[in-house]
Amino acid sequence: MIINLWTVWVQVFRISNSRKYSSNSITEVKAMASPKSISYLNQREAAEIDELLMGPLGFSVDQLMELAGLSVATSIAEVYKPGECNRVLAICGPGNNGGDGLVAARHLHHFGYKPFICYPKRTAKDLYSGLVTQLESLSIPFLSVEDLPEDLSTSFDIVLDAIFGFSFHGSPRPPFDDLIQRLIALGSPSQKHQKSPVVVSIDIPSGWDVEKGDLSGEGIKPDMLVSLTAPKLCAINFSGAHHFLGGRFVPPPITDKFRLDIPAYPGTSMCVRIGKPPRVDISALRENYISPEFSEDQAEADPFVQFQNWFDDAVASGLKEPNAMALSTTGKDGKPSSRMVLLKGFDKDGFVWYTNYESQKAHQISQNPNAALLFYWDALNRQVRVEGSVEKVSDEESENYFHSRPRGSQIGAIVSKQSTVIPGRQCLHQRQEELEAQFSDGSPIPKPNYWGGYRLKPELFEFWQGQPSRLHDRLRYIPEEVNGNIVWKIERLSP
Ligand SMILES: Cc1cc2nc3c(=O)[nH]c(=O)nc-3n(C[C@H](O)[C@H](O)[C@H](O)COP(=O)(O)O)c2cc1C
Repeated sequence: MIINLWTVWVQVFRISNSRKYSSNSITEVKAMASPKSISYLNQREAAEIDELLMGPLGFSVDQLMELAGLSVATSIAEVYKPGECNRVLAICGPGNNGGDGLVAARHLHHFGYKPFICYPKRTAKDLYSGLVTQLESLSIPFLSVEDLPEDLSTSFDIVLDAIFGFSFHGSPRPPFDDLIQRLIALGSPSQKHQKSPVVVSIDIPSGWDVEKGDLSGEGIKPDMLVSLTAPKLCAINFSGAHHFLGGRFVPPPITDKFRLDIPAYPGTSMCVRIGKPPRVDISALRENYISPEFSEDQAEADPFVQFQNWFDDAVASGLKEPNAMALSTTGKDGKPSSRMVLLKGFDKDGFVWYTNYESQKAHQISQNPNAALLFYWDALNRQVRVEGSVEKVSDEESENYFHSRPRGSQIGAIVSKQSTVIPGRQCLHQRQEELEAQFSDGSPIPKPNYWGGYRLKPELFEFWQGQPSRLHDRLRYIPEEVNGNIVWKIERLSP
């Protein structure tokens, strides 16, 4: 069954916002109403998919459980950071859902969480006893129902509901009936405006009807639901903050047969958020930076060497574009303007990037050569400011760099009259096709005169490293003349 929730939501949005967005409501609605429909499975379809996967499609239950558990762990890691929500109690039932919970707990351990397991009815099968052995080898504590603290809310940050999955029928029996009651008592933190613990349910909130949802209205209200393969019908009634989909293994015979409409997984992720992301309280977003201190005795005397060291760290940390930097310029009107550009080299002479010499930034630089660069390396809690004056690199340097770029980028540089107003994308594609045809013989693509590099010669560096309680390290380098030589003076600035 395919339901287009976005259509419903957009209708509501249209009505509730028609006054607020009187002049541009169509654009707003369009932007938020990208075609996102999603399939929901009934119990029979979910069972049939499992039979096909583990029958003709060649999967084993171990594989599916491993991938399901990994999806759950990565979904949790997307939302609840181990620095803030560390203690995870996984309550595992006797079936596959419980197995998914055991696998998730193992991955969570490796992600930096501290899992505890409550697994009161162990299944005597190799797969399950193997999972228990794996968890025991990681010294993950197993708690009996009697060992569980009376009030779960003070001992755990996350409670993973891995009790029953979509194949469960009937009423929960002891001890799961009581465990479910204890999860119900925790409520939904997003509704209670209380931080912890949050309940995360795997595939189905335990005790819910697979198709009709929380029949009594008094069942578990998870903060997060991780649907597997595709959401089950009950998930339509899920009102928690975070709905994720996991199980990135569904092959075309399944998607085709069940006409499954599920969102694409981003990049290499094992999970994808479905449904509307929660609105965050921006004022409450804060990170407590935990990094080693950056002291004067660690700082290199030469800021270029210091920059090289930190740049190497940024590369090693696996950041996607460690060379991305904000470039701020002002024209003669004194109005500043910032945009990202890519650093393409640096040495004692300065920091180089390439762009269009007729762009807005180029006009501003021609009026005022003073500019500022800013690097922010999130994963390292570091930023670096570099300020100075800018000049064009030599033609030869621009030529060399231009021809080192992929041919598509070379053509793109010719096509784009950067920062000018254009009627639509079509004119870009048209010019691109013309140029591709013109150079289809592989002949060199001439660099246009309006494209080239700039070099900023630093007159100031500042290296910033985040520290707890906002007491950050800031070391500023400014050039000073000493006995006729220029040396870089290092000063600490208050955060
Ligand atoms: C990560 C990132 C890297 C970018 N790198 C460049 C670049 O190296 N050169 C460039 O001209 N534009 C780059 N852009 C696009 C610029 O941010 C900007 O849109 C463009 O240069 C026009 O800016 P202007 O109108 O202020 O001149 C990049 C954008 C991003 C988000």
